[in-house]
Amino acid sequence: MPESPTTQWSIQRLLEWTTDYFNQAGSDSARLDAEVLLAEALQCQRIQLYTRFGEVPPVEPLTRFRAWVKRRAAGEPVAYIVGYREFYSLRFKVTPDVLIPRPETEDVVVSALEACKGFPKPVRIIDVGTGSGCIAVALAKQLKSDFQIAATDLSLEALAVARENAAAHEVGDKIRFYEGDLLEALPAGSTPVHLIVSNPPYIGRREADTVEEDVKKYEPDSALFAGEQGTEIILRLVEQAPRFLLPGGKLVFEASPEVMESCIDIVGESPLTFEKVLDDLAGLKRILIASYEQAPA
Ligand SMILES: C[S@@+](CC[C@H](N)C(=O)[O-])C[C@H]1O[C@@H](n2cnc3c(N)ncnc32)[C@H](O)[C@@H]1O
Repeated sequence: MPESPTTQWSIQRLLEWTTDYFNQAGSDSARLDAEVLLAEALQCQRIQLYTRFGEVPPVEPLTRFRAWVKRRAAGEPVAYIVGYREFYSLRFKVTPDVLIPRPETEDVVVSALEACKGFPKPVRIIDVGTGSGCIAVALAKQLKSDFQIAATDLSLEALAVARENAAAHEVGDKIRFYEGDLLEALPAGSTPVHLIVSNPPYIGRREADTVEEDVKKYEPDSALFAGEQGTEIILRLVEQAPRFLLPGGKLVFEASPEVMESCIDIVGESPLTFEKVLDDLAGLKRILIASYEQAPA
């Protein structure tokens, strides 16, 4: 925004100017981005901006806001700039080491909670590829008591963020975190569980051109891409799952509509029983649920 000694940059003018600027820069959430950044710079709730429209912010938050506006206009996600994202009505710390939690992943939590209703207590759950810990922490907050959650990730940096989020939401002592490859990250001889949940990487290198440039530039490659086809990690997850599931246990995972048919085939060729695919709010095939009917080998 232009700096001028004669211009009074009220909150209202700042929001209007920044929204226009973000629109021109190609943001499809320009007003929201402007509000989130300004509220964070002023250390207030977004809603409070509306009761302070005529106020002219002091120099320090204004300087911070200007710098953030430049970063956002250059394509950096708002969540990385302010350092957090809301997920399942909880605030999660995010850094460039973790995927920014997406709204469609909240449906994984909903499906997991639904599945938990059919299991005896204490319910045992594994979250594979926990990233910021959003699924594991949201489940822990909802289940409240009588559950055990283990969470795995290949990235030590992501696990550090997940641990911080679990502690911030006071479930740090209820989730165990393990570094390593999918379910193999768990200690040998781990007790089988009722439920495995995952939002694994599922974008194929062959469809990389269809992914937004800012997503590829700012979010971790290892959280997005899974081999050439996009199903390579899901294939291994489905192969490993029977060894870690109790009879009657379930596997709930997120995928994209592009790979969902292949995921159904992968489950069909495994010892798991395909149950159903659920659509997201946009009507896209997003979540696959399978069960394990046989006794573990
Ligand atoms: C799509 S992100 C999901 C993160 C988080 N669960 C969410 O929903 O926002 C996938 C996560 O899986 C992790 N990951 C990738 N390959 C993995 C592997 N082979 N074993 C364990 N975790 C893996 C990535 O580091 C990343 O944190």
